[in-house]
Amino acid sequence: MLTLGVLASGRGSNFQSIIDSIESGFLKAKVALLVTDNPGAYAINRAQKHGIDHMVLTPKDFPGRDAYYSRIAAELKNRGVELVILAGFMRIVGKALIDQYRNRVMNIHPALLPSFPGLHGQEQAADYGVKISGCTVHFVDEGMDTGPIIIQAVVPAYHDDTEDSLGSRILKEEHRIFPCAIRLFAEGRLCVEGRKVIIKGDRKDFAVTNPPLDQ
Ligand code: GRF
Repeated sequence: MLTLGVLASGRGSNFQSIIDSIESGFLKAKVALLVTDNPGAYAINRAQKHGIDHMVLTPKDFPGRDAYYSRIAAELKNRGVELVILAGFMRIVGKALIDQYRNRVMNIHPALLPSFPGLHGQEQAADYGVKISGCTVHFVDEGMDTGPIIIQAVVPAYHDDTEDSLGSRILKEEHRIFPCAIRLFAEGRLCVEGRKVIIKGDRKDFAVTNPPLDQ
């Protein structure tokens, strides 16, 4: 069974979707530890409700980024964590952690990368006027939302969308694809070659348009 460590800064709805996927049997994994940088994170309540250990570690209590991320890596290693999940962790993860977990840190981003990286991907997409947006699960490298892409889901975007309206359409898909990406990892079906993720198994062609075409 795959052992996960989760890093989250806020409400933790993606964390909850992972917990639910484990409890339903969809995901053969367990969460060994939640680490948060925010003592007020609602993700802590979710951990407590489901009997998951948590730690609050804040950068201000450490002499620098290296010390902070080395400590997180040490806590995760101590608990046998094999895959690190960034579920709304609102910081750029330091090299000290990435080096310990190369191609074993996954993030979810609320836009179709490489478009609209960084904060407020939903608002950036809504303001830009794209007709399609979505979300991306990717492995984490040293850049901001630049690592190899594992799964993307698309949703329509409309001219009157706001960060909230587009964001809630995207969030539903986040909750579907993050557990799927973790499951692919757990099944040993993901292989990283350069900046590409090769997924062993099915391949189906499809196309999406917005607006839908008449023909
Ligand atoms: C999500 O929109 C995710 O894409 C982004 O941060 C947000 C976290 O939401 N990385 P939640 O805490 O999982 O509800």
